[in-house]
Amino acid sequence: MSDKSARLIIGNKEIELPIHTPTAGPDVIDITKLYAQGDVFTYDPGFTSTAACDSTITFIDGIKGELLHRGYPIDQLAEKSHFLEVCYLLLYGELPSATELEDFEARVTNHTMVHEQMHNFFRGFRRDAHPMATLVGVVGAMSAFYHDSTDINDDWQREVAAIRLIAKLPTIAAMAYKYSVGQPFVYPRNDLDYAANFLHMCFSVPAEKYEVDPILARAMDRIFTLHADHEQNASTSTVRLASSSGANPFACIAAGIACLWGPAHGGANQACLEMLKEIGTVDRIPEFIARAKDKNDSYRLMGFGHRVYKNFDPRATVLKQSADEVLELLGVENNPLLQVAKELEKQALNDPYFAEKKLFPNVDFYSGIILEAMGFPTSMFTPIFALARTVGWISQWKEQISDPNLKIGRPRQLYTGATKRDYTDIENR
Ligand code: SDX
Repeated sequence: MSDKSARLIIGNKEIELPIHTPTAGPDVIDITKLYAQGDVFTYDPGFTSTAACDSTITFIDGIKGELLHRGYPIDQLAEKSHFLEVCYLLLYGELPSATELEDFEARVTNHTMVHEQMHNFFRGFRRDAHPMATLVGVVGAMSAFYHDSTDINDDWQREVAAIRLIAKLPTIAAMAYKYSVGQPFVYPRNDLDYAANFLHMCFSVPAEKYEVDPILARAMDRIFTLHADHEQNASTSTVRLASSSGANPFACIAAGIACLWGPAHGGANQACLEMLKEIGTVDRIPEFIARAKDKNDSYRLMGFGHRVYKNFDPRATVLKQSADEVLELLGVENNPLLQVAKELEKQALNDPYFAEKKLFPNVDFYSGIILEAMGFPTSMFTPIFALARTVGWISQWKEQISDPNLKIGRPRQLYTGATKRDYTDIENR
């Protein structure tokens, strides 16, 4: 803690508020005692200026366009590391030794199957249910099957719950996809790595041999890494708020999945690809840019803009490179959607409206193009985001419930409703 402080003058009162200095980023003014001392609340809907917690996991510099996981830049992790190693880093704070990594990967691999009875859950859904609806339901139901990892006060159970969620989300997401296309579920295989296993569970069928293309598996793994964690975004904050009540980890992650689904958040990858398809050809781009700029039109360019980044989202930069590589590998480098996306980015970035508002492509702008080229329907884009983000959610969950000073999150409000009044009998209304 620092010895700096801020002084707040309220009427004839002067309140001194401590200032905490972070290892990176802006100082924070500690207002925990403000209501008791000043009988006032602060007001910040959307949390544009509010730090809701302290954390050591992820740091974002929105001005520089920098994203660090435990201090390591995302572009280095995307190039040199792989998803399960990044999972270890997020969960435990340091890069693993070779032995630690081997042990961690073995623990995850041995938890990839789901309880056989969970298969029945899927049959309760319509085949055309959005896979995010299935994911929310089945992940929440995990608390009905894994009772031996729901006691959040037990270190061992917390650890097992984290491993189970990281291990089983790909299996559940793949089952949601298989169910939606009427194909049989495919069991995980212990001889495949995490990303290859997911592709195998999604795209193999009993009728023929399926070999995972190692380059596609590498691209899939990189997409997982780029979506792993992102500080206190809406879905992570949802997980933290849910966990502050002592809810079990499966319920908390199901809450995070529900929040991620929205098109302003993780649902933007699906919405972005649908937007690119609606634009269709580069000559229609000006029409859509005009709509996005029109104050009287709520239309927004999906995959553009970010609450924190006022520069390029470093993940979008890596994904743009990946899109070129994957589409070339698949022989679809002239993919019209990629051409529209690149031209849309170019025109938007040269438009004063986007420049003034510092709107750049975000993580969702290019990811959908890669995922569609890999064979996924748009409805699977957000489930893939959710399975990758599970490690971020569960790392932030672990950090929060390990805090001995944890209190239940309970925001207040600026009340603008009716003041106290007496009930009126119906004959007098
Ligand atoms: C993710 O928080 C995270 O870290 C999230 C995420 C993660 O990894 O967890 O990074 C993942 O959710 C990425 C964002 C995906 N969403 C989209 O791509 C949807 C399109 N983008 C927007 O809806 C918007 O940019 C948000 C929601 C991402 C951010 O919204 P903010 O921070 O609340 O910004 P804002 O709505 O106040 O916009 C500021 C201005 C507004 O204009 P004015 O009212 O000031 O005149 O910029 C405009 C907005 O109208 N604006 C856009 C725009 N985004 C913002 N105008 C056109 N197109 C857009 N995409």
